[in-house]
Amino acid sequence: MSPQRDQILRELGLGPQWRLREAAGAAPETRSEVPAEPVSEAMEAPMRRALPAAAPVERAASPVDASHMSWDDLATAVAECRACNLCTARKQAVLGVGDQQADWLFVGEGPGAEEDERGEPFVGQAGKLLDAMLAAIDLKRGENVYIANSVKCRPPNNRTPEPEETAACWPYLERQIELLQPKVIVALGRPAAQTLLQREVKIGEARGQAFDYKGIPLIVTYHPAYLLRNLPDKAKSWEDLCFARKTIGP
Ligand code: URA
Ligand code: SF4
Repeated sequence: MSPQRDQILRELGLGPQWRLREAAGAAPETRSEVPAEPVSEAMEAPMRRALPAAAPVERAASPVDASHMSWDDLATAVAECRACNLCTARKQAVLGVGDQQADWLFVGEGPGAEEDERGEPFVGQAGKLLDAMLAAIDLKRGENVYIANSVKCRPPNNRTPEPEETAACWPYLERQIELLQPKVIVALGRPAAQTLLQREVKIGEARGQAFDYKGIPLIVTYHPAYLLRNLPDKAKSWEDLCFARKTIGP
């Protein structure tokens, strides 16, 4: 592990809980030349658990048709969009940020106050944690990473977006994914996971496995804002990110 990553993990409070699989004497999962990843003993447990059957969540139709939009079209359409009530209180819509050829797509819930102010997702406290978590798996905002949200306009008082709001906004995210064709999607928190999977999701049950989104592996983990309030779960989230990296392969 590089000294820089070591430092990041210490700051995340992850350091002592992790050790190399080889060092623990466990058999490597594959025979490939992929270097060993730090994993926790708890890592495999949730992956083996079968996910209980979940109620599908019907997504209401949206007035938005983004199916043929380019990135420029999306930016214009979102900036002018009035397809749901969230348009009334926003300062600006926040489409997303990053590399349009990214292998990694992270999807959050919706812009907060700072994001609404600056026009970029995850730039507040939760965003700082997300950046640290990206760094912990050798990723960086803007480099092979794209970050978007389930709704593009800030819900007042940072409330959870309503199902009709995520449904109205869905065609934009759907088109972003179509244009990006990422190798993996990481859903940050329940609203993002439910928006993408169209089913009820409990993060604790759904983490540790790859769902299928139109042929793209989709992994769910905790939202960074939740992790700021529940520090011990940061270790689980890091496990999830390591798992996501494995699904991409070397
Ligand atoms: N939380 C989110 O879900 N998205 C952001 O962009 C910022 C905070
Ligand atoms: Fe349009 Fe989405 Fe903003 Fe609602 S949240 S106004 S659907 S861009």
